[in-house]
Amino acid sequence: MAEAAFRSTRTPRGDTIRPFLALLPSASHSFPRSLNPGRRCLVGASASLEPLEPPLPPVQTLLTPSPTVAATFLRRGELVAFPTETVYGLGADALDPEAVRRIFEAKGRPGDNPLIVHVAHPAQVDALAAECPPAARALMEAFFPGPLTLVLPRHPAVPAVVSGGLETIGVRMPDHALARAFLEACGRPVAAPSANRSGRPSPTTWEAVHEDLAGRIACILQGGPTQAGLESTVVDVTGPIPLVLRAGVVTPEQLRQVVPAVRLARTGPELARSPGTRYRHYAPHAPVHLIDTPSEVPADPEAAYIGLLPVPAGPAPALSVVCADVQDYAHRLFDFFRRCDARGVSAIYCQRVPPDGLGLALMDRLQRAAAR
Ligand code: TXA
Ligand code: MG
Repeated sequence: MAEAAFRSTRTPRGDTIRPFLALLPSASHSFPRSLNPGRRCLVGASASLEPLEPPLPPVQTLLTPSPTVAATFLRRGELVAFPTETVYGLGADALDPEAVRRIFEAKGRPGDNPLIVHVAHPAQVDALAAECPPAARALMEAFFPGPLTLVLPRHPAVPAVVSGGLETIGVRMPDHALARAFLEACGRPVAAPSANRSGRPSPTTWEAVHEDLAGRIACILQGGPTQAGLESTVVDVTGPIPLVLRAGVVTPEQLRQVVPAVRLARTGPELARSPGTRYRHYAPHAPVHLIDTPSEVPADPEAAYIGLLPVPAGPAPALSVVCADVQDYAHRLFDFFRRCDARGVSAIYCQRVPPDGLGLALMDRLQRAAAR
């Protein structure tokens, strides 16, 4: 149970933050074992597995519903998780290379996997991108704010660490009131990957962020569950043909209504432009089976199921999530995977959906989860 409390906290740099109202579940007073000496860092282009520096002391993670309070941490160079309409992000000042490095460390993220920079206003993109081609302008006009990330040539003023050393930069303007208020209060662009430990599903609630990152980041801005539940669509607009590098909430059909030339990245060199695909995406602990109908779910009381149709009468699986439609399925999937891991289910059965519209992104995540 969360309790309301006034308290002061110390930042990783030792500054004292003024006391203010925060909601502190009792779990936030303890620090994960993984922070003990010996923690491994994955920072820098070489993504070495060796510890690069002595581990930082555990950070006290403050929970707050206030975007202005959360912004004070970010402005001091610390890490703040915040909600967006897709999933929660783990933010740092995009123009402060030291702060950005801490994101990689807190997540255990390989240093060559680039981060998306979040803005409060489309005008901020001009300070992040060296140029903004006409297709990018048209997509911004149509989808900013919204769940679309555009990959553009990186402005030299943006530290290379943000984009894992690439000459490009991903930018996005979230369509979420609390995120916008936070970004506004930060007064600077915010680099933010999804706020999960590497290898875990993207978090769709602040509680999931807390589960992964408490004791590693300064602050969590508490919003409700995110609306979409899947991540933004990533479109590379640096070449003559805009390429979807990651399927997401904005569908190819919607993109093509604005820029008909948009294509999905398919070939090896095209996919190589999306560093995220080089890394193993989240897969739950239990094996994931993709099925066409729930009649394929075996009578196993330790199994779990998610899909659009109910499982036929018989022994019920340990977890069974029946979604109203594809949107609802997308909204619930990552939370379902977390519950499967927490529960230690024996196997996970996920019903396939047609790979069009939002179904394309949903099938992408299901296929990645099922890949071993
Ligand atoms: O909805 C979202 O996109 C969320 C919220 C927080 O905005 N963010 C998110 O970030 O999902 P992340 O880091 O978990 O995934 C970003 C993906 C990665 O696959 C990364 O490789 C790709 O976008 N990406 C980012 N910048 C890129 C760039 N410059 N070129 C190619 N791919 C890029
Ligand atoms: Mg992610």
